Amino acid sequence: MTKKQILKKTETYIRKKFETEGTGHDWWHIKRVLNNARAIGRAEKADMFIVELGALLHDIADFKFHGGDDKIGGQAAAALLQKCKADSETIKKVRHIVDNVSFKGLGVTPTMKSLEGKVVQDADRLDALGAVGIARAFAYGGHKGRPIYDPTQKPQKAQTFAQYKKWESSSFHHFYEKLLHLKKLMNTKTGKKMAEKRHTFIIAFMKQFLAEWDGKL
Ligand code: ADP
Ligand code: NI
Repeated sequence: MTKKQILKKTETYIRKKFETEGTGHDWWHIKRVLNNARAIGRAEKADMFIVELGALLHDIADFKFHGGDDKIGGQAAAALLQKCKADSETIKKVRHIVDNVSFKGLGVTPTMKSLEGKVVQDADRLDALGAVGIARAFAYGGHKGRPIYDPTQKPQKAQTFAQYKKWESSSFHHFYEKLLHLKKLMNTKTGKKMAEKRHTFIIAFMKQFLAEWDGKL
């Protein structure tokens, strides 16, 4: 298959698989990440074939929905690309992206090595920020049956992936445990710039939320 055909087939497969997803990882998340990744990848002069495949496949089998297994996504992506007869270099590069894209806790050292992976990771993180990011955090928490906020809990800083995985804190705590830190974790200059406004919006939202919580507004 040509690169164009491989991209098309991957997109069709992912679109179908994610159409009915209800945790904020639906097809439109993938589509937004693809658009972000295109903008960042072009500006950073990345290999756009790998960037687009990485964006399309990055959530193919997330550890959060597969009993905490963080290897299953890379395997699923590789299997699909093999079916498309993609070459082994491409498969290796895309697999590296899928295996390393997820946030695993604040104290956990980032493992993404390639420029293309850094682009996809930034694109994915942008979608956890801003108005869309707020909507997704509460959609995810609701899916897990968690309260929107519980002021008796303390925000935590995960030192290991195992710790991060087992926490059950409220959706609003996720802002302290991850969302507020994403801006400084952006890999690329372009990603950092794009994160600015979305980060500011999150802070304004949190202030308003806490003021309402205390009946001050
Ligand atoms: P990443 O794209 O870094 O892997 P995730 O898959 O962890 O991100 O998260 C997908 C979406 O679900 C994001 O918008 C994220 O903020 C949200 N999310 C993940 N974990 C939680 C949680 N514990 N509480 C609320 N939202 C969450
Ligand atoms: Ni994602």
